[in-house]
Amino acid sequence: MAATGSTTAGESAFYVTTPIYYVNDAPHLGHAYTTVAGDVLTRWHRQRGEKVWYLTGTDEHGQKIMRTAEANGVTPQQWCDKLVEEAWKPLWSHLSIANDDFIRTTEPRHTKRVQEFVQDLYDKGEIYRGGYEGPYCVGCEEYKSPGDLLEGDLCPVHKRQVEWLKEENYFFRLSDYGPRLLEFYESNPDFIQPASARNEVLQFVRQGLQDLSISRSTFDWGIPIPWDPKHVIYVWIDALLNYATAVGYGSDQIKFDATWPANVHLVGKDILRFHAVIWPAMLMANGLPLPGRVFANGWLMVGGEKMSKSNLTGISPRQLTDHFGVDAYRYYFLRAIPFGQDGSFSWEDFSARYTSELANDFGNLASRVAAMVGKYFDGVLPEAGNSGTAPEAVASGPAEQAIADGLAEATARADTLIGDNLDFAGGIAAIFDFVKQVNGYLTEQAPWKVAKDESPEGRARLATILYTAAESLRAIAVLLNPVMPATCAKLWASLGAEPHLGPLADQRVADVARWGRLPAGAHVTKGEILFPRLNDPKS
Ligand code: MSP
Repeated sequence: MAATGSTTAGESAFYVTTPIYYVNDAPHLGHAYTTVAGDVLTRWHRQRGEKVWYLTGTDEHGQKIMRTAEANGVTPQQWCDKLVEEAWKPLWSHLSIANDDFIRTTEPRHTKRVQEFVQDLYDKGEIYRGGYEGPYCVGCEEYKSPGDLLEGDLCPVHKRQVEWLKEENYFFRLSDYGPRLLEFYESNPDFIQPASARNEVLQFVRQGLQDLSISRSTFDWGIPIPWDPKHVIYVWIDALLNYATAVGYGSDQIKFDATWPANVHLVGKDILRFHAVIWPAMLMANGLPLPGRVFANGWLMVGGEKMSKSNLTGISPRQLTDHFGVDAYRYYFLRAIPFGQDGSFSWEDFSARYTSELANDFGNLASRVAAMVGKYFDGVLPEAGNSGTAPEAVASGPAEQAIADGLAEATARADTLIGDNLDFAGGIAAIFDFVKQVNGYLTEQAPWKVAKDESPEGRARLATILYTAAESLRAIAVLLNPVMPATCAKLWASLGAEPHLGPLADQRVADVARWGRLPAGAHVTKGEILFPRLNDPKS
């Protein structure tokens, strides 16, 4: 975990969260998908120069975890400790996730504050005692309405039999909040995204909400209800509150004020209602400001089904990073699947994109330019239009201006698409349009032919072409850094940029398109190949 952000009073952070993941099993591609998206989003905002807070963590209470621990002959706490330390945290550092904090719902900083929050709602008359019975899916940790079930008794998400639960519980008066929620959605049209998710929620809330059971008394792996400790708090109420407890709710007011509310809650579409209905209602009841946006990403599918461990289709990210590398992994899912839609993972598609987009378009561009600066200018970046021997500089022409314009356009598009709209596929495509434009420029200008002309004019032209290409790579390194940080660090090193421009992480989106930042004289070296040829996975 890289502690890249810190909050101080008075400065409001761009605060992004992932769902906190159930630790009943090891992470799979679906979990990593959301976490990588949040990492790219927050890295982008850091490059804008904003204060950022990126939170992820684990959801450790509830029946699902309890049963898994029992089946493995350990206590739930032992199970959670093991999974968090041996599977979840190591995966996030393996995938270069720069989260600022990692919250576990079994931590006292969380459990105590959850009790206070629930007590507050109880004191305000928002919680009452009542009875409930109905079909319950332990996989979802949710009561289902009978109309949602498939073939009478199957959970529509897990395709497994639901259980019939009958309990004396405490209830939150969720039904009171329908009109206020609808008003809120109306005046904040961007609160739920994408539009399909918003429509689904509107339809659901318009049908009328039922009160929500917020306690369980048939098992004890949870946070006790403070006024009636025979009950534990429903795992979803406990879990949602992580977004508040992690940033100092009830314990560190300065930090809380500097961070709250979240700008973006990233969630999978399966948990949209919890975040877009129950969560804002809880906050309204308590009087806290509501989040800026809930963005529901689609599912990664295998064979037409949601990829999941319980369906035995969960693929471990390491199976892919071993073959393609971490940066290509981060790139692939965001580039290949429009964020917000479902998408299928395919080994063939990944290989094809790796080879054509990463290795050929991007990697080869970087190595060709470094090789030519090495060969023709001894690795010292020449000044555009200056042969190194001619006293007068030859001005860059329209072809170079077109590149500078292309860069300005790609930067503006990527900034809006990635930074504002969470359209990662569109934003990355805009950057790669620029990569292709630079490749086209080199093909047209054919510096290897110009190099044969040893006159001062020929040398000056060659200098212009290679300067233009290297300067373009300087910008590409910055633009792709949020997506592929290790690769872009290698490129930054190969361009010899750091002594002149400082660390890559300090480069700002607002400066990317300012042409001519990489100075002549930079030492360009042919670094490692950015995207090596893939081994045959079967060998
Ligand atoms: N613990 C709850 C979330 C509480 S948040 C206050 C939970 N955990 S989960 O581990 O089951 O799933 C969390 C998230 O993982 C999903 O919402 C989604 O973001 C991601 N995904 C899990 N499987 C997925 C796919 N197959 N595809 C894409 N994302 C999926 O729900």
